[in-house]
Amino acid sequence: MAMLIKGGEIVTADARMRADILIESETIREIGRNLAAPPGAEVIDAAGKLVFPGFIDPHVHIYLPFMDTFARDTHETASKAALAGGTTTFIEMVCPNRNEDALEGYYLWKRKAEGASACDYAFHMAVTHYDADTEAQLRQIVADGTASFKIFLAYKNFFGVTDEEMYRTLKLAASLGVIVTAHCENAELVGQLQQMLLAEGKTGAEWHEPSRPESVEAEGTGRFATFLEATGATGYVVHLSCAPALRAAVEAKLRGVKISVESVLPHFLLDKTYAEREGVEGMKYVMSPPLRHERNQAALWTALEAGFIDTVGTDHCPFDIEQKLLGASAFTQIPNGIPGIEDRVNLMYTYGVRRGRLSLHRFVDALSTRPAKLFGLYPRKGTIAAGADADIVVYDPEYRGTISALNQYTSNDYNGFEGWAIEGRPAVVTVRGKVQVRDGRFVGEPGRGRMLRRSTQHVEAPEALYAC
Ligand code: URP
Ligand code: ZN
Ligand code: ZN
Repeated sequence: MAMLIKGGEIVTADARMRADILIESETIREIGRNLAAPPGAEVIDAAGKLVFPGFIDPHVHIYLPFMDTFARDTHETASKAALAGGTTTFIEMVCPNRNEDALEGYYLWKRKAEGASACDYAFHMAVTHYDADTEAQLRQIVADGTASFKIFLAYKNFFGVTDEEMYRTLKLAASLGVIVTAHCENAELVGQLQQMLLAEGKTGAEWHEPSRPESVEAEGTGRFATFLEATGATGYVVHLSCAPALRAAVEAKLRGVKISVESVLPHFLLDKTYAEREGVEGMKYVMSPPLRHERNQAALWTALEAGFIDTVGTDHCPFDIEQKLLGASAFTQIPNGIPGIEDRVNLMYTYGVRRGRLSLHRFVDALSTRPAKLFGLYPRKGTIAAGADADIVVYDPEYRGTISALNQYTSNDYNGFEGWAIEGRPAVVTVRGKVQVRDGRFVGEPGRGRMLRRSTQHVEAPEALYAC
């Protein structure tokens, strides 16, 4: 069935106009003023609303065996949460651990998502070891349409790779034209600092941040950049949290390293005092890299607006209170992760755009267009243009509400942003031309989502600061 979205203010990464959008057969057919609705078309009145391209979360964990437990969401719950918050595509990390077979892991993750996700999705393939089979397996995975890798410099002996494994992964990625995303913390230093703190009787969640200080993340970021430079690979730093790591990444960009930067929702809005709260209240806020001293937030916002931080993801990773309590006697056992897939768009709009820290175009760019470009989804996703998938967010900037775990879709018994005010919310969200959300509630088809296959020739080198 056709659909006409009428009278809204269309905002993309680089344009703004009042116009109608005609949708036919899952894609945008035409954009223009005073378009006529074809017979039988559904008409959506977007007067007074902002009309954005569907938002893309480039970093989520849904199925995740980690720290002796499993993240709480299913693809059904996480995708409903994503859609309710305006995210129409997510990219999930496929994370077998270093003792598991990469290809088996890849097909396991695919099976988990298939027929269960209400929105479209893609994967980053984690490379957690590199042995005689790895190259052939990764070639097969790339040929299947998963054209981005993930490496962890942290989590020694579990997800973490050695420098040699990082080098081999980057060499292969460079030859295939595949972008490599990286969690950048020095695993050895984290392990040593954890043992030292525990030996001193420092066992609470407040010691998580001191066990992974800013310098440890800056070292990982700088080392990743050095390896990118040596191999010619294209890289993407995930969840960058602090000014010293930002300096390392920007310094690398300036000297021509093909490196992009993602920061995630919690690091813009929450600081380490949240993890210093008493008991399980602090444990809720344990993630890695950790929540930082609040002085870092101004640096992140400034770098985001300037484009030195390319994208905003969530690192969505829900563990419930019972799971967080696994770390009651040692912070090293607290499952790492903070959920956010449902709230990223509304919180970045409220505390970024409405507070004057982020322009509306950069907001669309960082939360939709740049992820689409970097990960080979553009222009099918990430913009509003004729021929693009009809993933549209009709956004109500007049909505006023409060975040609460009581009405979230994310499968968890708390929300790290409980009680936070939001000033804006999706009124209508479409996935390939079908309404999946109205007024913040899921009204659609649970299994509608499709896996997005990406080809390597679409991988975009980060926009250059090379000339600087
Ligand atoms: O704390 C986090 N970030 N949990 C998920 C795993 C990861 O490092 O991305
Ligand atoms: Zn990570
Ligand atoms: Zn992550």
